[in-house]
Amino acid sequence: MKFSSKALGVAIATFATAALAQTPAPTPAAAPVAQPAQFAVCAACHEVTPGAVSLGPNLAGVVGRKAGSTDYDYSPAMKASGITWTPDKLRAFIANPVGVVPGNKMDFDGASDDDAKAIVDYLASLKG
Ligand code: HEC
Repeated sequence: MKFSSKALGVAIATFATAALAQTPAPTPAAAPVAQPAQFAVCAACHEVTPGAVSLGPNLAGVVGRKAGSTDYDYSPAMKASGITWTPDKLRAFIANPVGVVPGNKMDFDGASDDDAKAIVDYLASLKG
């Protein structure tokens, strides 16, 4: 048998493309809920990669956590709030930060109830 090297190259390229197309995309095991568009405003001040700190405290694992309990330099109001971030508490805080924790230093006016729900569903899926 006689192949031109060009034909062989095309055959290999075709095979390689087919093989690549069959490789399943890697799925991150710990992130079953995709980050919603509504979280973009939070991401300006908050990291969700464990360990990373931005202008505000890290939010990975915030659901179930005591308010003001990471290494972050919280306001006295947040530290003294006595809140544990259940999904309900978190939704209420995101919709009305000053109403839920008066005197806190998060410079955010509040999201709509629908946006708060989408954000909390997402945060609840993150591990700390
Ligand atoms: C302008 C910056 C900024 C934006 C925007 C912002 N935050 Fe914050 N956030 C902060 C700061 C600063 C604190 C610390 C507040 C304190 O100590 O009083 C905070 C605190 C929090 C806490 C308490 C965390 C803990 O460890 O107790 C949660 C929860 C939170 N933010 C969620 C959100 C969510 C969700 C959004 C988007 C809807 C958001 N934040 C938008 C700056 C921001």
